[in-house]
Amino acid sequence: MRHLISADQLEREDIERLCDMADKIRENPQKFSKILSGKIVATLFYEPSTRTRLSFESAIMRLGGRIISTENASENSSGKKGETVSDTIRIVQSYADAIVIRHSDENSAENAVKVAEVPIINAGSGKNEHPTQALLDIYTFRSSKGHIDGLSVAMLGDLMYGRTSHSLVKLLGLYDDITIYELSDERLRLPEEYVTLMKSKGVKHVRCGSFDDIPRDVDVFYQTRVQKERMGEQADKLRTFDLTTSIMNKFSDDSIIMHPLPRNDEISIELDEDKRAMFFEQAKNGLYARMALLYEILFLG
Ligand code: CP
Repeated sequence: MRHLISADQLEREDIERLCDMADKIRENPQKFSKILSGKIVATLFYEPSTRTRLSFESAIMRLGGRIISTENASENSSGKKGETVSDTIRIVQSYADAIVIRHSDENSAENAVKVAEVPIINAGSGKNEHPTQALLDIYTFRSSKGHIDGLSVAMLGDLMYGRTSHSLVKLLGLYDDITIYELSDERLRLPEEYVTLMKSKGVKHVRCGSFDDIPRDVDVFYQTRVQKERMGEQADKLRTFDLTTSIMNKFSDDSIIMHPLPRNDEISIELDEDKRAMFFEQAKNGLYARMALLYEILFLG
């Protein structure tokens, strides 16, 4: 793999291989601590981030590489002076061996690849995709539940503008006997192209009106934040389906709770101590999943 732009690029065997490598790195990080020695990776984040940027930067450094970074590229890079992303990529690739980019433009990563002579990794492209988040989400399913085939996943919140949901649906479509229960405001439902995709991949898709429509033994709750930054004032009028202790009491002790984070009010903090809460572990898994991806792209080449 040279670039990672979309979850469409990943096949089931790619995911298994990357997850196996993430496990190996987690078990023996010292063994991999110099593999990126001499490599420099640039992180260009035109949108805010805590987990993705810092876990990528930590992953690069833990593999022995170094980083150059624009923490707030829309303000602190020459993008502020009108430079196009394509021009910025043409310049930064002279300074780095790979570029990790997050941008509000849905085509940002694809456009970067068109001019790039170094690997490009999409760290979030508008409301479109977030493939490395989906990779760590699948890694978390595997670590927590032991399998992906046969999983039932309740997807909640903003499935219209939430790019993590889009990439995750694509990856789940690679597995057998998957059921997705969708519970969201009707204005935040998964876009039609993802519904069509699920149908073509044999994913069972159930639109729910309330928590009562989700089976008690659902395997995963995948909660998401309303992407206010993508919809303006409309966001305040939308119905959300927040997870609280009283809601979770209705579900199995084995149903795990995930969230790509950051969260607002959609998972109550009282659930942080619930043994089913997996969202902080999920964020930590991002480090290992991204180390595995960097190993493939930059070390194996
Ligand atoms: N999940 C995720 O993309 O988080 P950040 O916005 O903090 O990177």
